[in-house]
Amino acid sequence: MEDQNTNEIMIQATDLTHFYGPQPAIEEVNFGVKRGEILGFLGPNGAGKTTTMRILTGFMPPTEGKVTLADYDVVEQSLEVRKRIGYLPETVPLHTEMQVTNYLKYMGTLRGMPSRQIKRRVGEVIDVCRLQDYHKTIIGKLSKGFRQRVGIAQAILHEPEVLVLDEPTIGIDPIQVVETRRLIQELGREQTVVLSSHILPEVNMICERVLIIHEGHIVAEDTPSNLAQRLQGVDQLQVEVGGPVQEVLSLLRRVPGVTEVTQRYNQGRNVFVVQVEQDRDLRDEISRAIVSNGWSLLSMQLVSMSLEDIFLRLTTHEEL
Ligand SMILES: Nc1ncnc2c1ncn2[C@@H]1O[C@H](COP(=O)(O)OP(=O)(O)OP(=O)(O)O)[C@@H](O)[C@H]1O
Ligand SMILES: [Mg+2]
Repeated sequence: MEDQNTNEIMIQATDLTHFYGPQPAIEEVNFGVKRGEILGFLGPNGAGKTTTMRILTGFMPPTEGKVTLADYDVVEQSLEVRKRIGYLPETVPLHTEMQVTNYLKYMGTLRGMPSRQIKRRVGEVIDVCRLQDYHKTIIGKLSKGFRQRVGIAQAILHEPEVLVLDEPTIGIDPIQVVETRRLIQELGREQTVVLSSHILPEVNMICERVLIIHEGHIVAEDTPSNLAQRLQGVDQLQVEVGGPVQEVLSLLRRVPGVTEVTQRYNQGRNVFVVQVEQDRDLRDEISRAIVSNGWSLLSMQLVSMSLEDIFLRLTTHEEL
């Protein structure tokens, strides 16, 4: 986005904690979303994605903490917030007996939109969400994917600045998934979008920044490519060395930038797994050290991790 508001914070969530029962569903969750950003909430089932989104949209107040949207408190100033936010909940409460167009008009009326704006916007959102062939169809007769589009259409109807989409592509077929992702990306050019997903490639594809949430805690936050890089390649090297194990271990541990070395046998070969500091490439130093000790360097391999591996690692060990 080219305007000067690019760095303006649109949503600020501070110390959000929510209890449904004795265990917190989310605990001390903090994050900000910049204007125009597409932020992805990634996490396994039960991580707290829906809970966080319900709080962001003012659908339910948090047990503790607060959220501001365009500097309005979502609990205290919920009317101002509702004008500015479109929400696709996890289960869209669509009126299944209504025709698509009538449902959208009805939603516009409920939101207090002037009738001229309703007329214009209903036509526009039907186009944007590619519902032209279905505008007279009874919602109950639509396939899941098209119902999801109606859900998105109602979310964007009042031209909100912020869109909160809870698993927008869940349960829809691959072709419609591609279409829906494209639609979200298009919307993201103009609007601030927060979406949740448990599908890594989806978040990777659509989002500029990802929050990984696990058991109610944010365990990582970065751009998809930085997340991948952080634990990728240079962070772990597998080195096969012909030399005495203890001596090789102590030598490798002395190389500046190396954080941890473990040794294992792989099919009778001596493999050293070397962890290095973030963003350091020590291949050169390590190979020189080995060779200058008179040992043979049989192989050296970068172990790269996909976002999937990172996700698993973060959510199973909660480390970073
Ligand atoms: N209405 C509720 N009453 C009681 N517990 C709830 C309620 N909603 C969610 N929880 C619990 O809160 C935790 C977080 O749930 P939440 O729905 O926010 O997760 P999620 O990340 O959206 O998961 P999913 O990927 O399955 O949609 C879970 O342990 C869940 O069982
Ligand atoms: Mg959910």
